[in-house]
Amino acid sequence: MQGTPDICIFDSLEEFERKSAEEIVHLMQGSLRDRGACTVVLSGGETPKGIYRRLGSDPLKHLLDWSRVSVFFSDERCVSPDDPQSNYGMVQRELISHVGIAPRNVHRISGESSPEEAAIRYEKVLRTVYSPGPPRFDVVLLGMGSDGHTASLFPATDALGEENRWVREVFVPHLNASRVTLTFPAINSGREVLILATGLSKAPMVERVLSVQAPTKALPITLVRPAEGSLRWRFDKQAASKLSIPNSP
Ligand code: 6PG
Repeated sequence: MQGTPDICIFDSLEEFERKSAEEIVHLMQGSLRDRGACTVVLSGGETPKGIYRRLGSDPLKHLLDWSRVSVFFSDERCVSPDDPQSNYGMVQRELISHVGIAPRNVHRISGESSPEEAAIRYEKVLRTVYSPGPPRFDVVLLGMGSDGHTASLFPATDALGEENRWVREVFVPHLNASRVTLTFPAINSGREVLILATGLSKAPMVERVLSVQAPTKALPITLVRPAEGSLRWRFDKQAASKLSIPNSP
């Protein structure tokens, strides 16, 4: 990986969740201070759950004016919002239902629609908020799969090469399921992008993605390279257990 990546490795899952949540609040406070508002992109899956729970609990929840925060999603499974698989449903349970965010400022991907329709609708929402673009999200939270995917940008899928659209529908063969995902042009327009990974199952991929010299579609997360923003890698000790490079100071 070119340059010295900004990596923090936390001794435990508890410390990872606590320190990452505190860092996210700090970044969101900076956006509220500097721009009077904050747009945040939330990913799904298991890793960020504990972070969302902390953001929606004392003391952190009281450190932000949620009335000036807008929430977007990195991707969504093609299910209804009340489906246990729904990323929106998880974020609603863990965070949104606990803070005073205006429903009009929660922009979920309509997983209940057809993948094509959901992608078109979401793109229209983003292009209304960020016309003419690019979508300069203030804070983008991403996870990483053990295959190197992020959002729903999986290896060997055609959404990886999308250069114009900000949202794409994608069929994921090994899941035998469709997803709707932000594309790299949207993700890489973010100001503060954090990649979050925990657990031993991620350790081999963490080591691989941080040792490649150039971005490669074989490892989609290596294509996360904010054009005018920062990229932060945040791990617990287990996920970083195969790394030989030092923690960032
Ligand atoms: C999703 C996420 C996805 C996730 C990774 C890691 O919809 O599942 O957006 O990109 O971040 O698959 O998932 P875990 O955090 O569950 O390991």
